[in-house]
Amino acid sequence: MSDLRELLFFYADSGADEALEDEPVNRLAPKQPAPPQPAEPAVGDRDAPAPPRQAAPARTVPAAPRPPTGPVSAAVPDERQAERARELARSAGSLEDLRDLLADFDGCNLKFTAKNLAFSDGDPAAEVMLVGEAPGREEDIQGLPFVGRSGKLLDRMLAAIGLDRGKAYIANVIPWRPPGNRTPTPLETEICRPFIERQIELAAPKVLVTLGGPSTKALLRTQEGILRMRGNWRTHITASGVEIPTMPTLHPAYLLRNPAHKRLAWRDFLALKLKLRELKDDA
Ligand code: URA
Repeated sequence: MSDLRELLFFYADSGADEALEDEPVNRLAPKQPAPPQPAEPAVGDRDAPAPPRQAAPARTVPAAPRPPTGPVSAAVPDERQAERARELARSAGSLEDLRDLLADFDGCNLKFTAKNLAFSDGDPAAEVMLVGEAPGREEDIQGLPFVGRSGKLLDRMLAAIGLDRGKAYIANVIPWRPPGNRTPTPLETEICRPFIERQIELAAPKVLVTLGGPSTKALLRTQEGILRMRGNWRTHITASGVEIPTMPTLHPAYLLRNPAHKRLAWRDFLALKLKLRELKDDA
């Protein structure tokens, strides 16, 4: 019994703390044998009954795949959802509107395993917007981005340049926690990207900070690694063509695992501080 408890704690500590189905699935169980198929008549076996003939279709027009009519389950999303997300995100006229659209959107399977939508935190009118990858366990419980261990470090990094999270706007590329904190698939990112892009466009920050590789790749449309990208000002271009100076930096979760790299993030945050001062002086 205590072994079982230990195993459960081990799973929870590893981030596997979600049940995806009501019933457990034994994926190691031997496969069921396939149901017997009617025997094919041997060649030349004239006495064997002929197999039932399929009526030939009148025309061979391929039918469009039928979208699911019932509620979407925790299934693999498809390309059409990315297109639908683009259309929906474009139709949002305000951040509240966008949040409501996302809350109703059923095209991303991550929604069905997450407890809450973690849309944003902080001040939507802030000059700085910070965007991470996806909520973790604590963010999922509270429905807010960056409130767990990485969030605490992010708060300290902001405080070090005289900002507190209430004076910044914080969001993630993916607003739902991937089960067990797994890496979102490229298609999940593609489906969620139009929403975060619209969120940036509607919040219209003066400066954007991408936290970590996945957010940097998604918002700067690059394949370059974060260690190459960080520390230099880049440009995020919104759908309406507004250019936003963007500083890619290391993700706080990475810094927790690699504290020696905190000095690099510190440089990036100093550059952010300088940029905000310049913007103020220019205003
Ligand atoms: N990591 C992220 O990228 N986002 C969060 O909100 C929390 C951890």
